[in-house]
Amino acid sequence: MLSRLNLALAALLLLVAALATLTRVDYARPNREFLPDMKYSPAWQAFAANPNFPNGRTLQAPVPGTIARGELPLYFQATPEDALRAGIELRNPFHETGDNPEALARQRESLAASLARGGEIFRVYCLACHGPQGAGDGPVPQRGFPPPPSLVSGKSLQMKDGQVFHLLTYGQGNMAPFASQLTRSQRWDAINYIRDLQARAASAAAASAQPPTAPEGEPPAPVSEPGPPASPSPSPAVAPEPPTPSPPPSSASEVPVDRKNPLRERR
Ligand code: HEC
Repeated sequence: MLSRLNLALAALLLLVAALATLTRVDYARPNREFLPDMKYSPAWQAFAANPNFPNGRTLQAPVPGTIARGELPLYFQATPEDALRAGIELRNPFHETGDNPEALARQRESLAASLARGGEIFRVYCLACHGPQGAGDGPVPQRGFPPPPSLVSGKSLQMKDGQVFHLLTYGQGNMAPFASQLTRSQRWDAINYIRDLQARAASAAAASAQPPTAPEGEPPAPVSEPGPPASPSPSPAVAPEPPTPSPPPSSASEVPVDRKNPLRERR
């Protein structure tokens, strides 16, 4: 009785050992697969004919009237009239609204971050034509492409943010649309950066406009500066500095965005 049990146990042990060696997994080679169809479903090529759909296509159009998550439709055409309408109807999402100080502080923070991203976007997508300062002197027009107007002195100063958004979305004249390269949020980042370029150019122009009047108007200088009398003599020396009044924007835009490509996150 005992020996028969021992025999049976020994046989079982042998069987288990044999099974263990037979079914040993070699991770260097593909293992055995049963009914692989259930594991790997056949993937249809996007443009392949497909008998499973009534219209015979794989790629289906979105259901009419539906809106993809995270997307809001833009009801504009690529026309100058609609560009003007976009200027009236579209609001820069980074602009401050309301008077809640906490919300305003958050807005300022997100605007600074947007400026930093916008600088990166400008250098990648716009600088080639518009030049580092937006003067329209990038390397592409220097090689024969119709030069773009200056972004810091031209019409774009008067354009509303929404109008520039329309321009970046639908293009204008010789400038191609950027809707397929830049997400909406990235387009707003670029716009914020252009506004910062313009502000810096304006303050630099104001700074360079002052010194000539100060030196040649030495005698009338005291007359023209009765308001701030404390700084008549330092003012010529200080004149080169006024670029510093704008560090908040400029420093924000100069912040080197961390090198993990910030343009990657698209929605
Ligand atoms: C291939 C060259 C090229 C690139 C790249 C380019 N632009 Fe332009 N841009 C132009 C040209 C040319 C015009 C003038 C379009 C026209 O004919 O009205 C222009 C016009 C503009 C204007 C309107 C200026 C005005 O006074 O009418 C803005 C704003 C602008 N671009 C912003 C941008 C931004 C932001 C980017 C980057 C996302 C960019 N551009 C990339 C060539 C370019």
